[in-house]
Amino acid sequence: MEQKGLILKGDICYSLSKDCIATKENAYLVSVDGIVKGVFEELPEAYQNFPLEDFTGKLIVPGLVDLHIHAPQYPFRGIGMDLELLDWLDCHAFLEEAKYQDPEYAKEAYGIFAEAMKRGATTRVCMFGTLHVPATLTLMDAMEETGLISYVGKVNMDRNSPDSLRERDGEASMVATKEWLSETEGRYQRTHPILTPRFIPSCTNELMEGLKEIQSAYGLPVQSHLSENFGEIQWVKELCPEAEFYGDAYDRFGLFGKEVPTIMAHCVHSTEEEIRRMKENRVFVAHCPQSNMNLSSGAAPVRQYLEEGLLVGLGSDVAGGVHTSIFRAMAEAIQVSKLRWRMKDDQQKALTVEEAFFMGTKGGGAFFGKVGSFEPGFEMDAVVLEESFHRVPGKHSLRERLERMIYLAEDRDVLEKYVKGKKIKKS
Ligand code: GUN
Ligand code: FE
Repeated sequence: MEQKGLILKGDICYSLSKDCIATKENAYLVSVDGIVKGVFEELPEAYQNFPLEDFTGKLIVPGLVDLHIHAPQYPFRGIGMDLELLDWLDCHAFLEEAKYQDPEYAKEAYGIFAEAMKRGATTRVCMFGTLHVPATLTLMDAMEETGLISYVGKVNMDRNSPDSLRERDGEASMVATKEWLSETEGRYQRTHPILTPRFIPSCTNELMEGLKEIQSAYGLPVQSHLSENFGEIQWVKELCPEAEFYGDAYDRFGLFGKEVPTIMAHCVHSTEEEIRRMKENRVFVAHCPQSNMNLSSGAAPVRQYLEEGLLVGLGSDVAGGVHTSIFRAMAEAIQVSKLRWRMKDDQQKALTVEEAFFMGTKGGGAFFGKVGSFEPGFEMDAVVLEESFHRVPGKHSLRERLERMIYLAEDRDVLEKYVKGKKIKKS
């Protein structure tokens, strides 16, 4: 088969590590069949005949990665923000999610959500749906259409929520999950199922055991929530007195990393034991700074996670977070870490632009494989940014332009978006 080459020309920035951003002005990003060959200041002879898309003077960065978002919560963004997690779930999230029982509502709401995902700079995303099988398939259909690559979870929940949003028992939840999985088989190219026990308070032991069986049989990854809020953590202690710590309540069922790729959202109040287990088990932390502010959850010790070598990415956590932008999540991760440093722990310095950019690209991208950078061998997800809305006199360095866009970028600034080497339509 003929190889499909592509060159993007522009001012290119990408993360090499949490401490280093590569910046190459007027450079060529070369890919073949969606895989990066390299970023070159002079175009090598071998690539001279490849089609070239000329974005001279524009900023090109890797597509952003959102490791944690609730698609069904998009309609109530910005509402109920004076509550903490458990009351917010009862008064807003559960009531909204119950509406997805209605296929018409699901179709309309997920259509709007998918449009929003298309507009922004995100190219990879891990999301929660609701417990409803038809609605979750509707969400997956809508995400497939966007051209983004996503993991989507039918949520499992069989306790501690209203009748309108609770599965009868573990058995019923398993039957529904298997039905959902069989419907997804062969249906999608870029939309993948991920097992999604909502959080420990929502899942009986019977359900967790069942999910482990399904996980093993289908080889699925897992996403859930961990140590987000003090009330939640206390409740988990009461519900699972046998667990050594919150994360252990997942690990006891084999749903906490090791051979199971796992994302745990938040990890704001993880104990040293929990942090050690996350590291040993290679669990991904989805840091969601805006949600952690809105729901007064706290400020996660992200500097510690990065320095100890945990796997960390960013999440918008809509609708705990109100914005889908991972550029915003980068800026907020830095801002929250500054307050944390000043007010809570002066031993843990604030995060840097390098670290925030890393988490929102290569750090979270690692969940998807070699994703989130332009180093050779990485899948070519790229975003071309238009800076003209932020016009200023004089000239800034490329590093300064990137930092500025982390703080200022909006969806309208996304000029083009490529996923695995393919240009995707923005609307
Ligand atoms: N924990 C359990 N469910 C949720 C949710 O929907 N959002 C957040 N932020 N935390 C949760
Ligand atoms: Fe969440």
